[in-house]
Amino acid sequence: MSADLTGRTAVVTGGARGLGLSMARALARHGASVALLDVLDLVTGSAADLGRDLGVATTGLVVDITSEQSVADAFGQVGERLGTPDLLVNSAGITIWSDSLDTDLATWQRVLDVNLTGTFLTCRQFGRGCRAAGQPGAIVNVSSMSAQVVNVPQHQASYHASKAGVDMLTKALAVEWSGLGIRVNAIAPGYVLSDMTRQFIEAEPEIAERWRSMIPLGRMAEPADLDDLVVFLCSPGSSYLTGQSIVIDGGYTAI
Ligand SMILES: NC(=O)c1ccc[n+]([C@@H]2O[C@H](COP(=O)([O-])OP(=O)(O)OC[C@H]3O[C@@H](n4cnc5c(N)ncnc54)[C@H](O)[C@@H]3O)[C@@H](O)[C@H]2O)c1
Repeated sequence: MSADLTGRTAVVTGGARGLGLSMARALARHGASVALLDVLDLVTGSAADLGRDLGVATTGLVVDITSEQSVADAFGQVGERLGTPDLLVNSAGITIWSDSLDTDLATWQRVLDVNLTGTFLTCRQFGRGCRAAGQPGAIVNVSSMSAQVVNVPQHQASYHASKAGVDMLTKALAVEWSGLGIRVNAIAPGYVLSDMTRQFIEAEPEIAERWRSMIPLGRMAEPADLDDLVVFLCSPGSSYLTGQSIVIDGGYTAI
């Protein structure tokens, strides 16, 4: 990717580790200043490392994206330190595997709260900032192929429902905010090696083999496989692209 994101300010939620951190590093490599938001204390170290390695301004903030106040405070601090954000990547997310007949309300609610409501709250705060500053912006929500197909063998109805919600939220905000110059897209990865998937693979090693056997390209993705797509969606090269959820899954959903 030849995109130049110098002068842009990106907020990346779930940025302490995993896909969020990898995508944040990709944006920073293209010149963007980056704020990482995460519930994990690790986030401050991740931001410091990123800034030192790539020579861009960074900040790391401990934030729970399900809290309106916490999100508002975080965007206020990012504005003071790095300028009003004009890029937002929503990568914070959780999954809980649970048979639906045994799933309690709190478990269901928690997944929806983080993956869907949290994504809405950060989008809303970002949109308010762009409107107040009179500046355009671009949002990339991290959905999943699980918005479109049911994964096997694991049972994760709350995750599927939350990611389908993220896809539709993406479309709704893209239309609603088109007049503000804010583009809203999503990426929908297949299986990616990260802490989220590693916990299940380590508990049941045969599950990785089963997943791999269903992926035409024959391997799970590495976080870096998403880098160019997210940079593209944040760059002027995608200026006519909004309201889409782009599947990147090694061909999993093609069969
Ligand atoms: N790994 C995969 O195979 C895969 C596939 C498709 C989509 N995704 C999506 O990609 C995103 C990143 O997943 P990952 O694999 O990097 O997982 P991960 O667990 O490594 O990273 C998720 C991050 O989100 C943070 N987070 C969770 N709840 C939060 C909250 N309330 N507020 C702020 N931060 C919070 C976590 O602390 C963590 O750092 C998620 O939205 C996930 O659903 C992952």
